[in-house]
Amino acid sequence: MTRSRLRGTGSALPAKVVTNAELAERVDTSDEWIVERTGIRQRYIAGEGETTASLAIEASRSALDDAGMDASEIDLIVLATATPDNTFPATATKVQDALGCNGGIAFDVAAVCSGFLYAVATADSMLKTGMAKRALVIGAETFSRILNWEDRTTCVLFGDGAGAIVLEREDTSDNENAAGIIATRLHADGAQHDLLYVDGGPSTTQTVGHLRMRGPEVFRHAVVNLTSVLNEVLEDAGVSAEDIDWVVPHQANARILDATARKLRIPAERIVVTVDQHANTSAASVPLALDTARRDGRIKAGDLIMLEAMGGGFTWGACLMRV
Ligand code: UT7
Repeated sequence: MTRSRLRGTGSALPAKVVTNAELAERVDTSDEWIVERTGIRQRYIAGEGETTASLAIEASRSALDDAGMDASEIDLIVLATATPDNTFPATATKVQDALGCNGGIAFDVAAVCSGFLYAVATADSMLKTGMAKRALVIGAETFSRILNWEDRTTCVLFGDGAGAIVLEREDTSDNENAAGIIATRLHADGAQHDLLYVDGGPSTTQTVGHLRMRGPEVFRHAVVNLTSVLNEVLEDAGVSAEDIDWVVPHQANARILDATARKLRIPAERIVVTVDQHANTSAASVPLALDTARRDGRIKAGDLIMLEAMGGGFTWGACLMRV
């Protein structure tokens, strides 16, 4: 048996913090409304010279450092983003070049807020089939560049950032408790396109476009879909919710995290919450939260952790791993 084992994590945030109070000076909102309805207190916003690639490169260097690996050992880079530096080539190839590990496989994955789950599942499959041995899996976004800053219903919700992990294929013999990815499930429902999308693109408007969301409807779908996919993964792995040490969820809204945890009977103390600090960073939110909880000592070697996310498409997924 082989498993893709977590070797290191890293993250990167832009230099500039924007508080709710600062946003309230630009649009008709308040710190009180944002905190009460979302749990968000601040977000990081990319400045001049900071891009999805630059954040991804910084997060990747930090993950390699944490793994004690040299970039030359990486033969696969999968980068999840909905805000690439350019329409093409893939931002992953920019990361590859900056790290100086050219020659392996590098590509982007587009599944918006669940992009990191899709990227992990893709890398895991490629490691298991022997196409690569060590993968850098990245979620990186600059959502601030696709927001309509006059629309209070969306602009207060998102932030920029990047997170990265290093996965390594490891022979685990028949040890069921071995560290690594145990089970993953992904889903998509293209019929829900209009609830969350960007109203532009190279082949339609030849512009980048702005994010549009019907928030309350997305909220309802998120709780139902996440509860269902988490139950699927628990069943696949033959474990119960009580066995999970930490849930590392996509950070869209503290109320979604609470509602999902309640449905699964997972105590709030075992949910990693960073939405207050980072807001919703789309594909970057899960690896940012994972890196935060590893570095502050909450997630320890041997822990059973569940990653989960839901986003535009709709797309959603969950992944259980032992670290
Ligand atoms: O990452 C991808 C997945 N995305 C999500 O999971 C997001 C899911 N949705 C949500 O998190 C929530 O639906 C929102 C945070 C987007 C909105 O919260 P809500 O509790 O569903 O509020 P609402 O949209 O029902 O709006 C309630 C009221 C409305 O006013 P009226 O019509 O009741 O007078 C809004 O116009 O709040 C108003 N409102 C605001 N007020 C102050 C909407 N945005 C704001 C704002 N500041 N920023």
